[in-house]
Amino acid sequence: MNQLIESIHQELLSGVQIESLDPHNPVAVHQVPDPWQLLGAGNYAAVFYHPRYSDQVVKIYAPGRPGFAEELEVYRRLGSHPAFSECLYSGENFLVLKRLYGVTLYDCVHLGKRIPKQVIQDIDQALDYARDRGLHPHDVHGRNVMMQDGRGLVVDVSDFLQQEACSAWDDLKRAYYWIYVPVLSPLRLRVPYFVLDVVRAIYRYFRRLVRRNV
Ligand SMILES: Nc1ncnc2c1ncn2[C@@H]1O[C@H](COP(=O)(O)OP(=O)(O)O)[C@@H](O)[C@H]1O
Ligand SMILES: [Mg+2]
Repeated sequence: MNQLIESIHQELLSGVQIESLDPHNPVAVHQVPDPWQLLGAGNYAAVFYHPRYSDQVVKIYAPGRPGFAEELEVYRRLGSHPAFSECLYSGENFLVLKRLYGVTLYDCVHLGKRIPKQVIQDIDQALDYARDRGLHPHDVHGRNVMMQDGRGLVVDVSDFLQQEACSAWDDLKRAYYWIYVPVLSPLRLRVPYFVLDVVRAIYRYFRRLVRRNV
């Protein structure tokens, strides 16, 4: 772990360039210093791993994006659970997390990987566990949940302290049972990223409309 922390400070933090262009879209990563690898980007942060320490990932918050301290607190409350990662170390604007070797459900739909119901049930149970720990599952969408060996994982818990209701997971489940199970899955359709992004934009638009009317 010490060597990993050293490498984060000496190689990663000094060389990496992360920029949040728009809070509703993933951050842009302009530079990744060798041998670090970019694993994914969310609306707050980018996630990297070092090939020599590949069981850990480093999540670096983009300058100006909030949520770092909150995510740390969420991991403290979650403790150890098979469907969640764990926070192993925290620095100034980064967290070292246990790596989850899954494929996000968003990527599964893109790749045409079949998502069994067990995955959805595992995530439901994991979110119940989080609620029992005084947390409020929030922003649980296709890029924040994963499938590994037919089981469900929750990869991003950064908004779980927010008390405001969030329907993302219920909406995703509805799409799973109404569209994925009867149509996409049997046809083994692969959905291109641009279609997924258009669906995401339409979804956001309607969610805002609905919210305005309640
Ligand atoms: N512990 C982890 N193990 C493996 N991949 C991860 C892990 N945490 C994040 N990722 C990858 O990085 C992406 C962005 O991380 P995420 O935590 O969702 O960031 P944000 O809080 O900005 O949304 C995820 O969609 C996932 O692909
Ligand atoms: Mg995310």
